[in-house]
Amino acid sequence: MSHQPTVTVIGSINMDLAVSTDVMPLQGETVLGNNFATYPGGKGANQAVAAARLEANVNMIGAVGEDIFGKKLLQHLNNENINTSAVHVFDGIPSGTATIILSEQDNRIIVAPGANGLVSPELVQNHKSMIQNSDLILLQLEIPIETISYVASLAYDMGVPVILNPAPYQKLPAALLSQVEFLTPNESEARSLIRDPVLDILREKMIITQGEQGVVIHQNDSDITIPSYKVLPQDTTGAGDTFNGAFATQLAKGKGLKEAIIFANAAAAMSVMKLGAQSGMPTKDEVEQFLQERSEQL
Ligand code: RIB
Repeated sequence: MSHQPTVTVIGSINMDLAVSTDVMPLQGETVLGNNFATYPGGKGANQAVAAARLEANVNMIGAVGEDIFGKKLLQHLNNENINTSAVHVFDGIPSGTATIILSEQDNRIIVAPGANGLVSPELVQNHKSMIQNSDLILLQLEIPIETISYVASLAYDMGVPVILNPAPYQKLPAALLSQVEFLTPNESEARSLIRDPVLDILREKMIITQGEQGVVIHQNDSDITIPSYKVLPQDTTGAGDTFNGAFATQLAKGKGLKEAIIFANAAAAMSVMKLGAQSGMPTKDEVEQFLQERSEQL
């Protein structure tokens, strides 16, 4: 049996409130949409679920409110075999939500952080041993930036590699950029990062996800594109998170960079075939079968 790695995710947990529409409303306009549904989400929780389905031991450090969404989200993470002992429940604070508009095979998202905003360095400090005992740490930018910097520096000192998914984008301190092993921006986040004067230290660390256009890495002074797998998308919400969870799991298992990206590309493609960020996230056997079928079609 292959080594089951331990991945710790420090990040957001949201309830996604998703509505699909044929017509995007203009400013001041009301339109009638199609279906509405709630799904468990949050970039942190999504990446944790993706990694857990791919057979990593996953710890989640984060927060929810003591409300109906918080109860459901916590229960859901437990059902996905994620260790939630470091998920704090805050009284009198709402759980994080994401209002998602699905239209034209893409999405627009507004996040209200709620309890995610209380994931402070002090809160994480109580779980140092969890970080120390991990093979890899996975971070995004839906919790306070001081916490991201604190975790990256702690993990760096402990020799535990960190992947930072810089979403949603904000300007990042140079110290943080130097302490992470990989950054996984999408195209627009990469464009913002590239404007940063510390670009030189970033180029080799950037794994740029471009949806249908594949993933770009920079090695030995040149860009290499690793193609994505073509599928008919139902809902692209969480595709990037699936990529990150899968990529982290593969790296933590000791796989090489390109092999890890090919696997993560397959997992991300499979994830968009169902509605909801996490509904389509595949298991390890499903990804292996998909890769096998696609190689037979070549
Ligand atoms: O990346 C998709 C996620 O972004 C959604 O699940 C939503 O909660 C927002 O955090």
